[in-house]
Amino acid sequence: MVVPIYATSTFKQDGVGGLRGGYEYSRSANPTRTALEECLAALEGGPRGLAFASGLAAEDCLLRTVLSPGDHVLVPDDAYGGTIRLVARVIARWGVEYSTVPLSDLDAARAAVRPTTRLIWCETPTNPLLGIVDIAGLAGVARDAGALLVVDNTFASPYLQQPLALGADVVVHSTTKYLGGHSDVVGGALVVADAELAGQLTFAQNAMGGVPGPFDSWLVLRGVKTLAVRMDRHCANAARVAELLSAHPSVQRVYYPGLPGHPGHEIAAKQMRGFGGMVSFTVRGGEAAALRVCERTRVFTLGESLGGVESLIEHPGRMTHASVIGTPQEVPADLIRLSVGIESVDDLLADLVNAMS
Ligand SMILES: Cc1ncc(COP(=O)(O)O)c(C=O)c1O
Repeated sequence: MVVPIYATSTFKQDGVGGLRGGYEYSRSANPTRTALEECLAALEGGPRGLAFASGLAAEDCLLRTVLSPGDHVLVPDDAYGGTIRLVARVIARWGVEYSTVPLSDLDAARAAVRPTTRLIWCETPTNPLLGIVDIAGLAGVARDAGALLVVDNTFASPYLQQPLALGADVVVHSTTKYLGGHSDVVGGALVVADAELAGQLTFAQNAMGGVPGPFDSWLVLRGVKTLAVRMDRHCANAARVAELLSAHPSVQRVYYPGLPGHPGHEIAAKQMRGFGGMVSFTVRGGEAAALRVCERTRVFTLGESLGGVESLIEHPGRMTHASVIGTPQEVPADLIRLSVGIESVDDLLADLVNAMS
């Protein structure tokens, strides 16, 4: 019933150059990782999935495989800070240029394209402002530009959104989040539509070596089994939290694509099965008030990351997005981000009311 953890670095060969059962050395391939990669490909509806040691290892492998010096990349003005840091402080040093664009505006994306644009990177919903990008629309922009569209699907998970079916070329995941689902593993993944690109990435995955071990692969596989039921509960709880916050006198603004007033609500309703478990909001009283709320919850644990069964609260400006201070991606200082878990929603609501009182 359960794929074993193949805790082996090497495999006995049938002969010189034999490749017993298709395996030789666990950086190249390991049966537990293969099971995860096949599972991720099936979930995203793509022919090939590749697993990595972290979301950023997956991103790095993709960027260094498809980009060459002189190429240009469009990156969002709202995205996980680590992705922006990777592009701006690592990849750009090798002669790759990038522009920061509000990708929810397709005209702005089209206007930022250059003859050298090779890749458009998008996140939807975005981290931490829960912006929504029209994936099918942006796929059209990428196609016209002869560029690849990459969608970081971490916030939605493949249960809520399947970017390849909407025209994306590559899907990226931090499997650390909803796919793993239990805050007990760090991992990443790529799922690719094109067979030739899949071949290049398979070569690069082995050549660069940022692969997950068999136990980590097994943990993600186990998490995936409950993805659908967890996501249903994350969505239901987050909707109630967003509703409560919207009506609370201490709250200034709520960012949740499930709210009818959210600028991306209609597109989200079209391209997602549900609106997800992430909610951000600002409170009256500025940064000091936001920090006080973060420190006063008891059911929401103060911590980075997201997508686990237990609820988390954090201050993006000083925590997950501290790496983009002073850049166009800097986030509001009074912003609070919630990863709404699957606990009893009454406990979650009472905890927030109590922390803001
Ligand atoms: C949207 C998003 N993409 C990618 C990453 C990077 O993943 P990892 O931390 O597994 O390297 C994160 C991490 O928080 C994330 O939130």
